[in-house]
Amino acid sequence: RTNNEITVLGCNYLRDAWTNVSLNIISKLGRNLHVTQYHPLSHIRQQIVNYFYKQFYNRIGNSIFSVHDNISPIVTTAQQFDSLLIPEDHPSRKKTDCYYINQNTLLRAHTTAHQADLISMGLNNFLIIGDVYRKDEIDRVHYPVFHQADGVRLCTVQEVFSNTKDPDGLRLFEHRGVESSEKQGCHTLESVKIMEHELKNTLIGLAQTLFGKDIRCKWVEQYFPFTHPSWELEVYYKDQWLELLGCGIIRQEILQSAGAGERIGWAFGLGLERLAMCLYNIPDIRLFWSKDSGFLNQFKFEDPNTMVQYKPISIYPQCKNDVSFWLPEDGSYSPNDFYDIIQDVANHRVEQVILKDVYTHPVTKRVSHCYTIVYRHMERTLIKREVNKVHDRIKQHVTECLHVTVR
Ligand code: PHE
Repeated sequence: RTNNEITVLGCNYLRDAWTNVSLNIISKLGRNLHVTQYHPLSHIRQQIVNYFYKQFYNRIGNSIFSVHDNISPIVTTAQQFDSLLIPEDHPSRKKTDCYYINQNTLLRAHTTAHQADLISMGLNNFLIIGDVYRKDEIDRVHYPVFHQADGVRLCTVQEVFSNTKDPDGLRLFEHRGVESSEKQGCHTLESVKIMEHELKNTLIGLAQTLFGKDIRCKWVEQYFPFTHPSWELEVYYKDQWLELLGCGIIRQEILQSAGAGERIGWAFGLGLERLAMCLYNIPDIRLFWSKDSGFLNQFKFEDPNTMVQYKPISIYPQCKNDVSFWLPEDGSYSPNDFYDIIQDVANHRVEQVILKDVYTHPVTKRVSHCYTIVYRHMERTLIKREVNKVHDRIKQHVTECLHVTVR
């Protein structure tokens, strides 16, 4: 690599006057939080994917949606802007808003950047999920890297009118039509209304899956260069309206250029962080990047639909201590009694208790549990000596109260 080059995800690119990616941003590429096991963003991704798998299936019950969650975030300006009809002078192209690798190459600012490519490949129903990059201030709700999910569905004339009594004579397209607030010039009003109906039903269903059946929803007219008409879906959650997603009927020029001109399509895009912050009560967007087990372990569950409310973690360091004991042979041991004792004895000095190992003696068949106790106080740094004292007291109490034999 020469001085004049920059390495991003293992590839070298020529620098030019447009290059403005920072090392900090480059270090985020490849973290792939959205596919990291047990990560809150991964649970959200899985809920969205499961919903589309369940909602759209073929005649033998297989899902017709394909999921693309590991496409490289390095795109061309043609993918990010031109393929989506974003004008040459549009503000979203500015160097102050995007991370450019060079004049023609940048980190995608939305997952919609891959829409035209996947349509060109022949796909009709798909989700794109990944990390996106936008120059932004950094605070509780803004971070220059976040994650999005996009969805696209394209239909033929037969599919659009499949539930219509007398579909003969119904068309997707009309000549010499004019664009209005309701439709693009080339589309018939009836085809757009059917697609709009399916799009809105699908997305309300998604909102209900994520927030619960009773969630209040409202549609707001929007503008995107790549869809018309366009809407935003807002949901009323915890006393405020939250912008959940943007969507609309795909501009026919995009489908035409991608070789799907005989179909009509809808698309939507949403951000995963804001959703996860709402659903899990996570107060700061920067927490998603945390490697602290005090954060991550709160999301360690298999079922992505599990509802948990995040509990703030301490800013002070953790201190870990293990304890192993043989369980009483009468079967009276229950881990919950152990956890109660820990809370009583430790008095706000324990953050997590993790069952690390269960062992059955091959001859005696006695069972032993090994736990890691993570000590951490909300208001001060715990020193080792204090932790050891508490740890010894816990051992003493479990021996007396739960009749275990500490090893
Ligand atoms: N890409 C848009 C955004 O980032 C969302 C969107 C996707 C809107 C697809 C319409 C269709 O805000």
